[in-house]
Amino acid sequence: MQKICVIGLGYIGLPTAAVFARAGFSVVGVDVNERVVERLNQGEIIIEEVGLPEVVKEVVAKGKLHASSTPEEADVFIISVPTPIHADCTANVDYVASAIESILPYLKKGNVVIVESTIPPRTIDDVVAPIIEKAGFNPKEDVALAHCPERVLPGRILIELVENTRIVGGLTPQAASKAADVYRQIVTGDVIETEAATAEMSKLMENTFRDVNIALANELAKISARLGIDAHKVIELANKHPRVNIHHPGPGVGGHCLAVDPYFIVEKAPEEALMIQLSRDINNSMPDFVIEQIIKLTAELKEPKIALCGLTYKGNIDDVRESPALEIVEKVLANPRYDVRIHDPHVRDDQVPFPLVSFEEAVSKANLVVILTDHNEFKTIDKHVLLDQMETPVVFDTKNCTNLEQEEELTVYRIGDLTSLQAIAVKPINS
Ligand SMILES: NC(=O)c1ccc[n+]([C@@H]2O[C@H](COP(=O)([O-])OP(=O)(O)OC[C@H]3O[C@@H](n4cnc5c(N)ncnc54)[C@H](O)[C@@H]3O)[C@@H](O)[C@H]2O)c1
Repeated sequence: MQKICVIGLGYIGLPTAAVFARAGFSVVGVDVNERVVERLNQGEIIIEEVGLPEVVKEVVAKGKLHASSTPEEADVFIISVPTPIHADCTANVDYVASAIESILPYLKKGNVVIVESTIPPRTIDDVVAPIIEKAGFNPKEDVALAHCPERVLPGRILIELVENTRIVGGLTPQAASKAADVYRQIVTGDVIETEAATAEMSKLMENTFRDVNIALANELAKISARLGIDAHKVIELANKHPRVNIHHPGPGVGGHCLAVDPYFIVEKAPEEALMIQLSRDINNSMPDFVIEQIIKLTAELKEPKIALCGLTYKGNIDDVRESPALEIVEKVLANPRYDVRIHDPHVRDDQVPFPLVSFEEAVSKANLVVILTDHNEFKTIDKHVLLDQMETPVVFDTKNCTNLEQEEELTVYRIGDLTSLQAIAVKPINS
């Protein structure tokens, strides 16, 4: 069995290392975070992922997986370090470059080097190959250099690592074939070989497709607010067409993938990537659109009490990275007119720079409850709690997720259905 060295033991690298170890490979996992290394060598992990603690415990106990702060010689190197964006929205590939540099002293002719991190198009050709070349290797002949992007869903990573179709893009066809053979030993889905730049672009376009479609739905929500139309009904009816699937509007797009990856394309082709950039702009404008509605909804009140519920970028997770809800919370908090309470059942106090309270405390005496994330807890809110506890029972559901219905005592606005706000919100088109 081959030996595998995985660089970066986060949400992607650790499950990958564990799955290869479970299949019988000898695996060393490398991380710059000492805590990750120490804990892993005790068979423990510091991230949350369904089933992963059990698999890691088993493979560490069997001696199939160990962790280290420095790489070791291996047959296959897999790079799964972060690729964030800089403040100017350009990709930061420094982590990938430094991970590649860290394996150079251990690299031998015939090795396979696979970058799993999401990277801008042509990074394998223009960034990774030159680093390997500088160390004295011919990157097209001495090593098999490839990009194999990840498309797993948090919560299902162990299943999807095995069952998903994998795209393996090589610097050469031989490199693609050699790297693909590595995955064929653990993957039951298809393993498709292609060129490195095609694989890089296909991963980015998957997330860009979703970002652009959400932008279209968000634009529809804004148009509907102006024209006094229920966007949710429009989407429901339009989607009855057999080839139409309009996405759903919301308070913006967050997370470290959808809100980041499209910029990797814009950076490389800004003159052509017009729709991609515009979609980013539309999605980035949604927090302000939400704030505008909050201002209108509370315009008549002297010191409105507002409960903001949900901080994560999607429902039922604890991840607040790039979350539009955080931007909304910070802007509402910055307005001294508001008395604000914040609640998220999945987020710990140490994750955010403001205090969190229980749902009951948040809604107590509130004039307005704003739902910012579609956690299951918010899908089944007991309307009697709102009717009993709120000063004025008004809910603004920016995820269209609650089971609450508009009725005499309870006013419910949804992001795509602000028709009853029209008198204040809608201006004549030619004004
Ligand atoms: N998490 C996901 O759901 C997901 C899905 C698809 C693609 N990706 C991509 O996979 C890549 C990794 O993402 P992640 O979520 O696993 O990140 P992460 O932040 O969870 O983990 C990255 C790990 O790499 C370590 N690290 C950083 N530099 C290092 C170095 N030079 N040497 C060794 N270790 C180093 C960090 O300490 C950290 O533990 C990113 O490019 C991301 O965009 C992530």
